[in-house]
Amino acid sequence: MSAPEAKGGVAVLASGEGTNLQALIDAAARDGLSRIELVVSDRGEAQALVRARTAGIPAIHLSPANWSTRAAYDQALADLLAERGIALVVLAGFMRILDADVVRRFAGRMLNIHPSLLPRHRGLRTHRRALEAGDRLHGSTVHFVVPELDAGPAILQYRIAIQPWDTLTGLAERVRHGEHFIYPLAVRWWLQGRLSCTDGQAHLDGKPLVAPLVATRDMAPIPG
Ligand code: GRF
Repeated sequence: MSAPEAKGGVAVLASGEGTNLQALIDAAARDGLSRIELVVSDRGEAQALVRARTAGIPAIHLSPANWSTRAAYDQALADLLAERGIALVVLAGFMRILDADVVRRFAGRMLNIHPSLLPRHRGLRTHRRALEAGDRLHGSTVHFVVPELDAGPAILQYRIAIQPWDTLTGLAERVRHGEHFIYPLAVRWWLQGRLSCTDGQAHLDGKPLVAPLVATRDMAPIPG
């Protein structure tokens, strides 16, 4: 495996349980590449903070209550990331829509994972909406973040077939299982200098990603 480019550290922003954070921590322990140098949460009770501290990663609760406006909070968050020399910002269940200026400051350096096959089902309650719509396929998408919500260039999708017996919680669990595979992979590609985004176009290994790469249940068709 080739060494990553010296690009600086990774920060993970998370508001909740942090299972994707855990997958990233575990992947870093395995591959030695995906160094996570900081975890930030807007919620003090987030399990993600506990997971980070358990792994010996600096973990900060940045409470929105301490700033008078959303933009001021987002600016403080961006300043913190910059001060820590963070190169890549990984949103892993961070339940806030970031200010457009902050997103632009990290253009090409901010990833998100969204639990649907984008562009289908942007926003919240994606599993319920997929079930209610009678979708045949569902899954999750890793994408670069742009100011418009869940609209950035897609990189990698995990796709599964919805089964007649799927329940809301069962479906969510199956999707999340796949997220734990695709997110560390995308982060690794970025750190290796293989993945980039310029002028709204994602590239992998120098080639434009005209459509996201797809992982299925057997995880076979992905390079790298
Ligand atoms: C995931 O389903 C992810 O797609 C979405 O938020 C959830 C985070 O889960 N953005 P966890 O906190 O990583 O377990």
